Amino acid sequence: MLLKDIQTIFHNELDTENGANEVNSFFNILIKHYLSLNRITLVLEPNLTLTKKEEEPLFEALTRLKNKEPIQYIVGETEFYGLQFKVNEHTLIPRPETEELVEEIINTIILGGEIKPLKILDIGTGTGCIAISLAKTLKNAEVIAMDVSEEALKIAKENARLNDVNITCIQDNILNPNNSLAEIEFKFDVIVSNPPYVREVEKLEIKDNVLKHEPHLALFVPDDDPLKFYKAITAFAVDNLNDEGYLFFEINQYLGGEMKQLLADFNFKNIKVIKDVFGNDRITKALKP
Ligand SMILES: C[S@@+](CC[C@H](N)C(=O)[O-])C[C@H]1O[C@@H](n2cnc3c(N)ncnc32)[C@H](O)[C@@H]1O
Repeated sequence: MLLKDIQTIFHNELDTENGANEVNSFFNILIKHYLSLNRITLVLEPNLTLTKKEEEPLFEALTRLKNKEPIQYIVGETEFYGLQFKVNEHTLIPRPETEELVEEIINTIILGGEIKPLKILDIGTGTGCIAISLAKTLKNAEVIAMDVSEEALKIAKENARLNDVNITCIQDNILNPNNSLAEIEFKFDVIVSNPPYVREVEKLEIKDNVLKHEPHLALFVPDDDPLKFYKAITAFAVDNLNDEGYLFFEINQYLGGEMKQLLADFNFKNIKVIKDVFGNDRITKALKP
């Protein structure tokens, strides 16, 4: 079948749900991933014909897209902070807002003129996107990445290898830490976390592709205790950050005020709530007293 005819089938099947631009983007990602073809091929070679074997993965992907599976899970990878990351159903797909968090941490450290070796802990690392981007950029940092999910940690380790950085991955539960975290004998200069923060009431705002396919363990918190991870992590940071160490969070956009109060209650200082590119409260940054 002609490549351009397959693209037309994609548009016929998917445009209503996704819009033509998004479908073009899906198609370009797929032909690059499976056939190493660039989107310009569609213009330069309008008569390019695919064999049955070449068509197969495209039609399989079409079925999965119709089932609202995110394109990143279909191709098994995504880009974050200029790096490639493997993703699967056990890991959240890294979001652009989280790149802003990484940028904020890097700017804070570089502008602070920090030159001594830094110890950084990323809690709830998922793909390892935060930990690995920091390790790649801050060459003098020793980075520890923890998650409750063994499956997520497998991906984080693979991503560290693929991006050629050394990070230490540990499995633990921040709500009820056992030996792994307790065994760490030093304190940290930076603790960062993008923990689960979506309340059950907000499920209505969430698109089907997220709701049906991304791990709920990574996303949801109960309506009656939406800050439970932030409380546990802030309490942990009180004991495990060096003096003047930084605590960074990605936060629920609706809970900026509550987060500021929580950090103040734990006596953190220089508390800042930072907005993302969409103007939503998205990051907090605070100094241990
Ligand atoms: C919102 S995702 C963030 C993933 C990644 N850091 C990112 O920014 O894309 C939250 C992560 O926290 C992990 N998590 C959930 N409950 C946890 C717990 N009790 N202790 C440690 N990690 C937990 C999930 O497995 C998930 O990887």
